[in-house]
Formats: sequence, C-alpha cells, structure tokens
Amino acid sequence: MKPAEIHPQQQRENPEPQEGSNPMPWFVIVLTALLLGFGVLYIARSAIVNAPALGDGRSSAELLGAAPASAGAAVDGAAIYASRCVACHQAGGTGLPGVFPPLAGSEWVAGKETTLAALVLHGVSGALTVKGSTYNGAMPAFGAQLQDAELAAVLTHVRSQWGNAAAPVTADTVATVRKETAARTEPFKGDAELMPLK
Ligand code: HEC
Repeated sequence: MKPAEIHPQQQRENPEPQEGSNPMPWFVIVLTALLLGFGVLYIARSAIVNAPALGDGRSSAELLGAAPASAGAAVDGAAIYASRCVACHQAGGTGLPGVFPPLAGSEWVAGKETTLAALVLHGVSGALTVKGSTYNGAMPAFGAQLQDAELAAVLTHVRSQWGNAAAPVTADTVATVRKETAARTEPFKGDAELMPLK
C-alpha cells in the first residue's frame, strides 16, 4: 500500500493564509479617544434651544403648569397665529380665494381695533365683505380659547405683517371689548352686524 501520492502541483501551493493577531494601531486608539472627547464636549457645551415656532406654541412655563400667558408675560403673537389662524388664513395672510378671506390688506384688520377684537372674540358667520369680495363662511370664536394678552398679541401680529401697518392692540383693549360684549353668545352675522361697527 503506497501512501497517497503527492502531486508536484500540490507541493507548489502556498500555505493557507491566516489572520494573525495584530495590536490595534496606536493612532486608531488616539483618534477614537479624541472623537469621543469631542462628542462629549460638544453636547455638554451646546445650548440646545427648541424654538417654539418649530413645535407647538407652548412655552416651558405653560408646560410646567404655570398660568398660561397672563398679562405682563411676553406672548408671541406669531406663534399664536401659527397655531390658531394659519390653517384658514394661511402663512402669508392671503386666505383662500372664495373660502377664507385675506388678512393681508384687509380693512377689518387695519380698521378699528375694538371691532377687530370683537370679531375675533366672538367669531363671524354669514356674508362678510373683505377687500371687495364677499365671503360666506364661519370664523370661529376665540374668546374662550385665548386670553386677552394672547388675543392682543395675535392681533398686533396680523396688523404688522404682510404689508399691514396698523397700531398694536393692547390686552387692555381686548379686556374692555370682552367686557362690553360679554352678553353676546353668537358670532357676528357678517356685514349686517359688523358694517355699522366698521
Ligand atoms: C376655521 C377657519 C378659520 C380660523 C382658524 C380663523 N379664521 Fe378668521 N375667518 C375665517 C372665515 C371663514 C372668515 C369670514 C367669515 C364670514 O365669511 O362670515 C374669517 C374672518 C376673519 C377676519 C375678518 C375678515 C378679514 O379677512 O379681515 C379676521 C380679522 C380674522 N378672521 C382673523 C382671524 C384670526 C386672528 C384668527 C386666529 C386667532 C382666525 N381668524 C382664525 C376663518 C377662520
């Protein structure tokens, strides 16, 4: 019995390659340590501020249960506009032709502040003429949802945007109008009720 013959071709082959165990190169260790240190420092040193405009409009004080936007506290009219009005009146204040009237260039927005406040406190329904076009929709009442300071802030905001340049509305004005119109339980009936107040 002859042992299996070894062919010359087999003798010519190199041994199977093997992975050795090499130590990690020192510069990889240093680089990893540096990156880790940088990451920790970067997070520790960066001031992480979430702008309310990017999320819901509530301030941290409100989320902690403090009194919402009472008089004196700075209220962000733009944030209230973005959360309460933008769906209908649109970001540019243009409204939607035939459906939602524009606030940009609107004579109601720039007009008497008491009428404007009353309109937003109690809402409007029925034919309303804005910039020469008649709308026949329903504007919700915000009296129950927004405080005087919040209403003042959002009205001041819409009076100063998109080319509007009317005087700011104060929380006191809104409070007075709220008191004077306290008996009202229904929205204003469009032009019929609002034209005399224009
Ligand atoms: C659900 C949609 C809707 C929302 C939300 C809404 N409005 Fe209106 N708004 C209307 C409609 C519709 C009219 C017209 C009412 C009519 O035709 O009788 C109107 C009318 C108005 C008017 C008078 C007309 C004009 O264009 O100047 C003002 C001012 C106004 N809204 C301000 C606001 C403000 C401020 C907010 C946010 C606090 C707001 N609206 C939220 C639908 C809406």
